[in-house]
Amino acid sequence: MKNVAVIGSQWGDEGKGKIVDWLSSEADVVARFQGGHNAGHTLVIDGVTYKLRLLPSGIVRKNKISIIGNGVVIDPWALLEEIEEVRSKGVEITSKNLIISESANLILPFHKEMDEIREDIAGKAKIGTTRRGIGPAYEDKVGRRSIRVMDLLSQKNLSQRLETVLMHHNAIRKGLGKELYEKNKLITELMNIAPKILIYSQPVWKKINEFTKNKKKILFEGAQGILLDVDHGTYPFVTSSNTVASSAATGVGCGPQNINYVLGITKAYTTRVGEGPFPTELTDKIGEELGIRGKEFGTVTSRKRRCGWFDGVLVRQTIKISGIDGIALTKLDVLDTLEEIKMCVGYEIDGKKIDYLPASLEEQIKVKPIYKVFKGWLQSTKGIKNLEELPQNARNYIKELENFIDAKISSISTSPERNDTILIEDPFKA
Ligand code: IMP
Repeated sequence: MKNVAVIGSQWGDEGKGKIVDWLSSEADVVARFQGGHNAGHTLVIDGVTYKLRLLPSGIVRKNKISIIGNGVVIDPWALLEEIEEVRSKGVEITSKNLIISESANLILPFHKEMDEIREDIAGKAKIGTTRRGIGPAYEDKVGRRSIRVMDLLSQKNLSQRLETVLMHHNAIRKGLGKELYEKNKLITELMNIAPKILIYSQPVWKKINEFTKNKKKILFEGAQGILLDVDHGTYPFVTSSNTVASSAATGVGCGPQNINYVLGITKAYTTRVGEGPFPTELTDKIGEELGIRGKEFGTVTSRKRRCGWFDGVLVRQTIKISGIDGIALTKLDVLDTLEEIKMCVGYEIDGKKIDYLPASLEEQIKVKPIYKVFKGWLQSTKGIKNLEELPQNARNYIKELENFIDAKISSISTSPERNDTILIEDPFKA
């Protein structure tokens, strides 16, 4: 029996939706363990499109249990809206198939406002966040002043907790010349929705333990990507959670031995939304072409994604940081029309060669990529399902990529369609 963690090995948007959908059909339990509704997964099942942000991908399938772990930050209104949206497409969501951790932290309206206030005043130094309140909510969690799902049980307790957190927020708001946040209206609004959230609330660690004992297959569904990890990413241009696979254990409450296979979703080129260093970024016609062919617009914010060549140095680094066992290579077909394809195999800073991305932002900005150039294959790979059917030049590119990053390619995706996949190894059976 294997449990699989799926994570993005770049800056998010690697095409996790399709892979997670395929794996969730095999899993019994699908658990989100970090992030919030800054994530966006699009699933197309039997012709119906589901745009999921906070709900785990298992929710759209019958007889699967979906878990939102303690490591996730939950905007309760966004969650209820998403539940209604998915229900309107005929999906049943009850306390039998959705479990929310009682210790997950809430994103409240003043978090979203703080995210916006700070991004607006930062000017050129802005992070380019999704403006969903993710950062401020995680700050309150580690600041030990957060409101958690369980706090919705008692109005008295909620009122006291809000007093504490608002003392902090209002001091900052006052300093920035913003209106102070009043707690009374918020208490009423929260108490109104409390029963709708609390029906799903349970000790997730206990449920995970039960599922493990009963030999259920668990899929840990990561959001964003390792280069956005608050410790290991391109800090400060990162999200506020740990996106690495090991955070799946803390994010639901189980031991690291419960994660048996880490699958890193990896795009055959690179994209990033928001600000921050991007060594292989292409601001020319090729970058435009990748964006158009790859439909590189954000699912959550509709922002245009920045595009560039595959950065082998970065992916090799994230594979090590996150203990990735195998990668699912996605969007290979987007490269079909290019005469020449480049892969970054090293960096140069001030004439000195290095084989990793340094942690300092100043150095990250100075880094110049060293490329290996490949001949394009100039023919369609769309829909190919066997490795042997790929053009020789595509196979050369993939082979070199695999050797360079030092991890096995477990599948290759050749179109957004679920069946258009070259399957080399099933992570649940590996
Ligand atoms: P936040 O998570 O909204 O605080 O945004 C911080 C950074 O993470 C910004 O650069 C966002 O664009 C990026 N980000 C957050 N969620 C995603 C995602 O799901 N995909 C890609 N980038 C993301």
